[in-house]
Amino acid sequence: MHVTVSEFLETGDIMIIPLFQDTEKAPNNSTRGLSRSASIAVKSAISSDGFDGKEKCQISIWTKECQIILLGVGDRNKLTLKKSRDFGAKCFSNLPNNQGRNIVIRFTSGWNNENMASFAEGMILRDYSFDKYQKKDDEKNDSEWSIICQTTKRYTKDLDLEINRLSSIATGVHLARDLGNEPANRLYPEEFGRRALEWSKGKENVEVEVWNFSRLKEEGMNGLVEVGKGSVHKPCMVFFRLNPTTDTNKQVPCIVGKGITFDSGGISIKGSAGMDEMKLDMHGSATVFGLFQALHATGYEGRVNGITCMAENMPSAEAYRPGDVIDTYSGKTIEVLNTDAEGRNVLADGLWKASELNPSYIIDLATLTGSIVVALGHEATGLFSNNDSLSGRIKKAGDEVDEICWPMPLLPAFEKQMTSSKIADVRNQGKGRWGGAIQAAGFLKQFVQEREDENGEKSQIPWAHLDIAGTAGIWGGESNATVSHGATGIQVRTLHRLITSK
Ligand code: BES
Ligand code: MN
Ligand code: ZN
Repeated sequence: MHVTVSEFLETGDIMIIPLFQDTEKAPNNSTRGLSRSASIAVKSAISSDGFDGKEKCQISIWTKECQIILLGVGDRNKLTLKKSRDFGAKCFSNLPNNQGRNIVIRFTSGWNNENMASFAEGMILRDYSFDKYQKKDDEKNDSEWSIICQTTKRYTKDLDLEINRLSSIATGVHLARDLGNEPANRLYPEEFGRRALEWSKGKENVEVEVWNFSRLKEEGMNGLVEVGKGSVHKPCMVFFRLNPTTDTNKQVPCIVGKGITFDSGGISIKGSAGMDEMKLDMHGSATVFGLFQALHATGYEGRVNGITCMAENMPSAEAYRPGDVIDTYSGKTIEVLNTDAEGRNVLADGLWKASELNPSYIIDLATLTGSIVVALGHEATGLFSNNDSLSGRIKKAGDEVDEICWPMPLLPAFEKQMTSSKIADVRNQGKGRWGGAIQAAGFLKQFVQEREDENGEKSQIPWAHLDIAGTAGIWGGESNATVSHGATGIQVRTLHRLITSK
């Protein structure tokens, strides 16, 4: 999709005019450039009873020059960024696929820059499909969409800048979706590493490093090694570094992603219903990759670190088993009670490694538990943190871009369950099914290092855990207007906002 901004000039193949409730007269500029008959048709439609401007009220007018869509957007005082984005996304999804692709959107009275940009962002985000494995459909027009956002002259420059920024961020969201949607026979740990290396080529201020299976063994990253060794596709750890030579004496964020390219459950094998969805169990790592793309594309100048823990969880003669004890990178041991609780095992090494970088804060993203889906459905990501200020900032950033992160408690009782193994330091499963997402978070917390503050007092590095099991994918349902099916690219925009806002 190519989005440009201009004054009210062209009329396009399809002209969309978003109008507020109780618009009785065609606003200034809405009919600019249209023939007399088309203008009259638009004016009569707007003043007729057939169009009231309420949300979901939409009418089409066919004229000789173009199709004109009057799009009701409701009460002008109730328009929000979220609503604008959703209007853009839904409006885009309803556009005919087999007609002209020059779309004009006329933002007339009542639209400010923020809302216009958000409307365009909705269209950009929604303009995504994963059809690379489908035969080309000759009926389907797959040429690029051209969108012209029209507004008054004094707004055009700023609007153009803002839309450019948002479309750069969207390249990261779309990359995360591509990775998430990629089947597990095509995208396995080493292939993810290869794609990351390839992505870094020619980009001066990024660095990608991949630790392969033998390096992981040398380093003692046995959380990752044990989970991944049962597959023919061996595990790896991928390091992303943006602006690695900038402010090296300053603490900077480290973002860690769970990257299980397929989660069969391992020896504690899952049931077959819905198991295909477990190709998405690497969405945490997809979000990290997408975030670095978004940060790079928007020209972010600060230093940021990313770590993804890549493995395929398979049953085999070489697979790890229930009852095994793992020596993790941290030096702590894990008693494996369930091989399907694998995400936490790989993150144990990722979080400890992240801690070694002495970061300002650590955020991990993981499709970690079915339990968070029970709690929050597909509406919000579970947000766990040892630091209220960090948690508040993540929540705010998520609210601003409409990727809700809902605070969940790190209750000590669950942490205690996870540290009460009879034979190891931690166990990878709690004592019952209740509070499963909190158990998992309590487990992860054991692998975030402490450090001394200025007063010589020891406390844990600020850390937040985002359980995205419910928000990473859409398999039917309407909880995310910017996606029709599959991986959502969730939290790329949130983390971009968090990191880039002062
Ligand atoms: N990848 C799954 C969690 C998941 C479930 C993600 C549904 C997306 C949708 C995770 O590895 C897992 O299997 N978790 C288990 C943990 C249990 C065995 C302690 C779960 O939640 O049931
Ligand atoms: Mn699992
Ligand atoms: Zn998993």
